[in-house]
Amino acid sequence: MKNTRNIYKMTRTETTDVVIGRNLLYSIGVFLKRYKHTRYILLSDETTKKLYAKNVIASLERLGVPVHVFVLAEGEHNKNMENIVKILHFMLKNNFDKKSAVVALGGGVIGDVATTIAALYHRGIDCVQVPSTLLAQIDSAYGGKGAVNIHEYKNMIGVIHHPVAVIVDMNLLKSLPREQILSGLGEVLKYAIILDKKLFKKLEGLKKIDGELESIVRSCVGLKMKAIIQDPQDVKNARVALNFGHSLGHAVEITSHLTHGEAVAIGMTFAIKISRKINIISEGQATRALRLIKKFGLPQTVSGINIKKVRKIMKKDKKNIGGRTRLVLLKEIGVVSVQENIRDGIINKVLKEIIT
Ligand SMILES: NC(=O)c1ccc[n+]([C@@H]2O[C@H](COP(=O)([O-])OP(=O)(O)OC[C@H]3O[C@@H](n4cnc5c(N)ncnc54)[C@H](O)[C@@H]3O)[C@@H](O)[C@H]2O)c1
Ligand SMILES: [Zn+2]
Repeated sequence: MKNTRNIYKMTRTETTDVVIGRNLLYSIGVFLKRYKHTRYILLSDETTKKLYAKNVIASLERLGVPVHVFVLAEGEHNKNMENIVKILHFMLKNNFDKKSAVVALGGGVIGDVATTIAALYHRGIDCVQVPSTLLAQIDSAYGGKGAVNIHEYKNMIGVIHHPVAVIVDMNLLKSLPREQILSGLGEVLKYAIILDKKLFKKLEGLKKIDGELESIVRSCVGLKMKAIIQDPQDVKNARVALNFGHSLGHAVEITSHLTHGEAVAIGMTFAIKISRKINIISEGQATRALRLIKKFGLPQTVSGINIKKVRKIMKKDKKNIGGRTRLVLLKEIGVVSVQENIRDGIINKVLKEIIT
């Protein structure tokens, strides 16, 4: 498949340059030349550093610009304020200026930290995303949301700072563990269920996704960018549909050992079942959506977690206004509906079917 490149206009002045293809790490410097950056900080975790940093560093160094590498320990818990302060201090000590840039080489954790750093340093420097997980390639690398966790509060403190460029090298997925592919797939299914009947049908007909991954990534990126450009600062509620499956999903992610995508699959199952209970979706459409989640081996129930704790976390969801739980529900494949008056009794009943 040929490399593609689209320039998505964010505002009159803000754009995100999205390049999708293969063997792109060697050409990162070429893509970034026009920005005339003065210094780079390459942010990675231990795995992405070991596997891919060398090629990125070599490519950036060909621009004749200093490249500093900062390696973050792996795991969600490292997305914290202490690390943000550490990295900012490192940059101050190394004389990064306003024309320097952050390059994120990694999954959503590295991407979120990089976005936060780029928004804060000198009140905003360029951020370049080089997403290395399926989840990051189709979702977290776009839209400029960066956040950190404080104690049990996940992603509550953060910024919106759009990347100047996202460079998606499909070859990076070759080393990605199956479990992480599955996690990204959770988000792929979300796009298909809420936004794209064609993609949904395609996924229904697929035996294996491996050979189709590149075209699936392109479809998902198109859908995500379409939502983002309608509401770049996420203030008009235009991106709310993308939260499908995330109210319960986040709560499950915090209280279990499941990956983000697996937790979202459980959250989507919950949302579809609630939609059916309040009769806004037909039996046939609900069954098709649930069947697709099951087909790809994503979980639809979870055990060993505390319903009360889950409910408490759901009540603190960022989407809620005035203390009422707002849920993104499904009316039919490709059409969502935001509801905030679902009775507690219904929510608890469906939760009991899902949390076993
Ligand atoms: N900003 C947003 O819009 C947004 C959206 C969704 C999720 N997120 C955030 O993203 C994070 C989850 O991201 P994630 O699922 O990418 O997890 P992650 O960044 O923790 O990566 C998962 C694991 O895969 C490894 N890895 C990454 N790339 C690899 C590769 N190419 N080969 C082998 N191993 C590789 C990592 O080292 C890590 O151990 C969460 O913190 C979530 O809150 C942000
Ligand atoms: Zn998500």
